[in-house]
Amino acid sequence: MAGSITDKFGRPIRDLRISVTDRCNFRCRYCMPKEIFGDDFEFMKKDELLSFEEIERIAKIYASLGIKKLRITGGEPLLRRDLDVLIKRLNDIEGIEDIGMTTNGLLLKKHGKKLYEAGLRRLNISLDAMDDELFGQINDRGIGTSRIIEQIEYAISLGFKIKINMVVQKGLNDHEILPMARFFKKMPVTLRFIEFMDVGNDNGWNFDKVVTKKEILEILENEFDIEPLEPAYYGEVAKVYRHNDADSHLGFITSVSESFCSTCTRARLSSDGKFYGCLFAVEGFDVRKHLREGVSDQELEEILTGVWNRRDDRYSDLRTEITAENRRKRNKINMSYIGG
Ligand code: GTP
Ligand code: 5AD
Ligand code: SF4
Ligand code: SF4
Repeated sequence: MAGSITDKFGRPIRDLRISVTDRCNFRCRYCMPKEIFGDDFEFMKKDELLSFEEIERIAKIYASLGIKKLRITGGEPLLRRDLDVLIKRLNDIEGIEDIGMTTNGLLLKKHGKKLYEAGLRRLNISLDAMDDELFGQINDRGIGTSRIIEQIEYAISLGFKIKINMVVQKGLNDHEILPMARFFKKMPVTLRFIEFMDVGNDNGWNFDKVVTKKEILEILENEFDIEPLEPAYYGEVAKVYRHNDADSHLGFITSVSESFCSTCTRARLSSDGKFYGCLFAVEGFDVRKHLREGVSDQELEEILTGVWNRRDDRYSDLRTEITAENRRKRNKINMSYIGG
């Protein structure tokens, strides 16, 4: 992998996931349970968030170090004001080939057009059930599936390329696998089933709640004529299948049953400017502090290179070796803070 810095295991840096807010208009139980993220939860203040100028500066340096893909996340990124201005700036950076956004989709009708015009082309939209009531319970804001489908249809009409992310939990929404697959087969999208992960500290995870790729595939193969595709690029997160009788795709994100740390090329930046080498990291590296102390571009490049060179995270590879007690003790960052 020429032209890219590497970490302790020789993994190149390729993707930067940028969280632009820690707030969300949903309260998904597995991510931001209301008991913790209630009315008195202290979200970040405006001056704690990286400004667009700061994000652009960091992204430019990362592009010179090998980053080609950017992903905008949250919390819910569509809650950040004037996001189209940021997209436009990021799109203009030399070396950036792809920008995507991960969103719950609720505000796409409001902001989608501006974002498309600013150069955003890809959306990954979270949706965990076809059933309105069940989805309303999962997001804990009573937002029904139909509200999100409307937004998805609108986004498709604008020209966005779309993936749908469904987090599958045993006993909660695994009976929705087939209804979801039937519905999205008819749409030009990739529906991805995500194995429920032990992100954060408050999401009630245990192995028994995970429905593995193997189990989901068995359900799907009973009804659909599908076949696996080769990875679209080095380190692709999802294993993708195509329908032989439709234009849509299915995918699996197998962080639990088949971890993919050995090709993990992703750096993560929280909305307050901390670098994380892993979704399951405990501590971040404070990039914002250096920026606000006035480092030069060259110094910043050296700092970011050093941070990546020292990276040795591979949590999902190690998950099964870590005891339940040690998993509980580990004070991991929250998903809503780092954006998945
Ligand atoms: P594209 O491949 O660019 O479309 O994006 P993506 O699949 O990396 O992004 P998205 O935000 O849609 O992620 C989908 C799911 O994969 C989420 O549940 C993420 O938390 C999970 N995921 C993404 N990257 C990683 C990773 O590096 N490690 C783990 N364990 N999970 C990841
Ligand atoms: N396990 C797996 N995926 C999760 N997501 C949020 N929490 C979890 C979890 N515990 C998904 C969201 C979104 C993406 C960023 O991560 O549904 O699609
Ligand atoms: Fe749900 Fe995503 Fe919001 Fe978390 S950030 S509460 S997963 S919509
Ligand atoms: Fe990358 Fe960490 Fe996920 Fe492994 S667990 S793929 S190192 S983010």
